[in-house]
Amino acid sequence: AALVARRASARARWRRAVALLREFEEGCATPPARLRQVVDAMVVEMHAGLASDGGSKLKMLLTFVDALPNGNEEGIYYSIDLGGTNFRVLRVEVGAGSVIINQKVEHQPIPEELTKGTTEDLFNFVALALKSFLEREDDQDLKRALGFTFSFPVRQNSVSSGSLIRWTKGFSIEDTVGKDVAQCLNDALARCGLNVRVTALVNDTVGTLALGHYYDEDTVAAVIIGSGTNACYIERTDAIIKCQGLLTNSGGMVINMEWGNFWSSHLPRTLYDISLDEETQNRNDQGFEKMISGMYLGEIARLVLHRMAQESDVFGDAADSLSSPFILSTPFLAAIREDDSPDLSEVRRILQEHLKIPDAPLKTRRLVVKVCDIVTRRAARLAAAGIVGILKKLGRDGSGGVASSSSSSGGRARGQLRRTVVAIEGGLYQGYSVFREYLDEALVEILGEEVARSVTLRVTEDGSGIGAALLAAVHSSNSQQQVP
Ligand code: GLC
Repeated sequence: AALVARRASARARWRRAVALLREFEEGCATPPARLRQVVDAMVVEMHAGLASDGGSKLKMLLTFVDALPNGNEEGIYYSIDLGGTNFRVLRVEVGAGSVIINQKVEHQPIPEELTKGTTEDLFNFVALALKSFLEREDDQDLKRALGFTFSFPVRQNSVSSGSLIRWTKGFSIEDTVGKDVAQCLNDALARCGLNVRVTALVNDTVGTLALGHYYDEDTVAAVIIGSGTNACYIERTDAIIKCQGLLTNSGGMVINMEWGNFWSSHLPRTLYDISLDEETQNRNDQGFEKMISGMYLGEIARLVLHRMAQESDVFGDAADSLSSPFILSTPFLAAIREDDSPDLSEVRRILQEHLKIPDAPLKTRRLVVKVCDIVTRRAARLAAAGIVGILKKLGRDGSGGVASSSSSSGGRARGQLRRTVVAIEGGLYQGYSVFREYLDEALVEILGEEVARSVTLRVTEDGSGIGAALLAAVHSSNSQQQVP
């Protein structure tokens, strides 16, 4: 009788785990109708953010980038790329005709303590890395224009200067907020005795757009889906209402949307998203980013699994490790979801080695895969909705709006489809094929096949840094433009 009772209660607990799974799945649902609501909300917020500062959670920041590289740049340029998990120093040698003759990229992880220390320590680290790179390149005596990719929200007042609005992605160095980060870097470079000055201060999305445009002039937007997520696109200056009288030679300017901070009641938010937000340094901010990007996806799955462990015994006694925040990183989430072996042996290995859960039976491993799948699918589909939001704002979503982007619209009929390229970068899209498939699939669902065919997502590699070097080339002579 005792055995029968134990079996019955085990079944009940398993049912509890399955019920939690179903509830989570429903909470994360993104049917096409809901994605379309997210698209529309994105467009509304874009307008509001362009109308006034503080008009929306979408900051729609001016970048002062009004000219993108077109392939005629020549020379050797350097850039520094700071903002994700990795930090990069780059040297790019370009020749006329969109030829990158040579490029050298050095990656190194940013020591965790520097992301929470002082402004001076962080920028000294960056400047010293450039110094040792230049010494090895034997170029240190030459005066150089430097592109600085700084992937955080910055209020720019020229293409080469701007102050940090707030940190994102786990960085928190209070005394940097409000400071001109290009100046911080210039000071550190001078302290190191380097004859190098920042001539282009750019967000990573803007660098990625620059490289995309360098290769293909139909590139009108760029998206990053890595540790954080964000997008930028080319807007007409007369649509940037909050900055009336803004004149540029091209009639357009790149806008850094900071879409990570987008919010709408149409987003499928669950209790786990609320718990995640409470664990972060930047509570109530970056809501869209916290549902989409690499810094957070593993943690959302961990929170779900932890609740299952508490309310059922699917993980047995060994589930304690699931109570440690951020123990399940997004690369593990991806590896779990991508395990296609019949016995889920990779899932078993990850559970054993990284989560200290030995001997999880196959059906439990399947449950874990399913949780990772739900988290991935929602993220990828929301990112797709964000992309369509930009296309819609530009009149390139096939809905027949007036074409409003800067390039080659002359003489075209209303609503006619134009080839549109979106440059895309970041570990999730590049390195996680299931994520990519879900995103591509959602684009087709929202846009329809014909329109989706006119849109190309083009992956660039190190575009954020290479693009910044190219922008340093474009802007090294006209970096003085100011807010009118
Ligand atoms: C965060 C930053 C943003 C950056 C993005 C991708 O959202 O705020 O500036 O572009 O991450 O790195």
